[in-house]
Amino acid sequence: MTNKYMYFIANWKMFGDLRTLNSLDSVIKFSKNNKISKFRIIYCPPSTLIRPLSKRLKKTNLEVGAQNCHESENYGAFTGHVNSKMLKNVGAKYVILGHSENRQSGETDKLINLKIKSAIKSNLKVIFCIGETLSEKRKKLTNKVLAKQINNGLSSIKDTSDIIIAYEPVWSIGTGLIPKSKDLLNSISYIKSKFRRKVPKVLYGGSVNNKNITELKDINIIDGFLIGGASQNSKKFIDIIKKTFN
Ligand code: PGA
Repeated sequence: MTNKYMYFIANWKMFGDLRTLNSLDSVIKFSKNNKISKFRIIYCPPSTLIRPLSKRLKKTNLEVGAQNCHESENYGAFTGHVNSKMLKNVGAKYVILGHSENRQSGETDKLINLKIKSAIKSNLKVIFCIGETLSEKRKKLTNKVLAKQINNGLSSIKDTSDIIIAYEPVWSIGTGLIPKSKDLLNSISYIKSKFRRKVPKVLYGGSVNNKNITELKDINIIDGFLIGGASQNSKKFIDIIKKTFN
């Protein structure tokens, strides 16, 4: 049983349409019935659903985030992109940046740094994803990779109070694999140790489900979870939250 303030962030990736939003009614109901529990639930749907979702969640304690943004704060000729101001304008309070699925399609630390700066300027809180690949893990490079991603991604950002870090080993995303408790404890403590002044919240993400949560919740330096696949099913998502507090 934990008494900490825990984050449960649903990363819907490219999933969901207007009808899917009806499935959140049970999560809204659940969150009302559990006022005593300390949790913060944030849904990050595709951009197309940010506006309708934020309207729907208006009088609830659930919040809305986006999954990426362009680094430019101005309008421009960037076909297919949206910037942080536009996301804020339609109701997003958070934005996921540095997700490995975007790093794999070419996002560099430098670009992620620019995106983070622009998101902070637009008053969005940033869920900053970091994590090593399987081959980096095998070469025992995990800490080195994490340090590089943190140093470059947060370069010249002095105030980190709007940043939440999500440790997501690339090899654990969507694979059903999670790190050994000992390794996870080490990585999360290492990430926290990189911050001298204000230590950010550090979440774990990668194949979190309603079974392995019983093991993950015991690692008490974890401040919450970034949940992909399992968050698309409200019943499983609620189950994960319930089990974290039991
Ligand atoms: P997963 O995704 O829970 O489906 O592994 C997590 C993520 O990519 O954020």
